[in-house]
Amino acid sequence: MIAALDVDRIIVERLAERERWEPLLPRKKIGYTRSRLFACDAFEVLALLWFPGATTPIHDHGNSYCATRVLAGELHVARYLRSDEARAADSPGLRLVGRSVQHVGEGDALDGARDLHSVANRSHHEALSIHLYAPRYAEFGIYDESGARLATATARYDAVVDF
Ligand SMILES: [Fe+2]
Repeated sequence: MIAALDVDRIIVERLAERERWEPLLPRKKIGYTRSRLFACDAFEVLALLWFPGATTPIHDHGNSYCATRVLAGELHVARYLRSDEARAADSPGLRLVGRSVQHVGEGDALDGARDLHSVANRSHHEALSIHLYAPRYAEFGIYDESGARLATATARYDAVVDF
């Protein structure tokens, strides 16, 4: 597990370079884009640009730790906890543990496959967030509100930003 102190340091390092990478992020009119800013064996850092109306399904992050921080705009986040029984049986067992509107400087830390969330930009403006995943992950699960696993998706990048 990556230490909280390291998470802060890694995010601060990327923020120091924000003027260089932010103009390079791909844009589109709907949804959101995921751009990789940095990757090593232990972790990766992505910038997510959220367009008005962008919404993710409820998802896990494989077995990776995930730390997020809002850099611009605001994001509506719903947090869910998956029970151990549900994890074993792959059956319904999600519990909504909180909803929040996160503003600049706020974020979350999600621990592996038990901590799930859905994220949405309900505003009329773009939102930007930075995400750290440790270790990097290739696949993640998508769920419905009951906790049923609907699909396994492959993590994708819209861009690998070289700055
Ligand atoms: Fe996520």
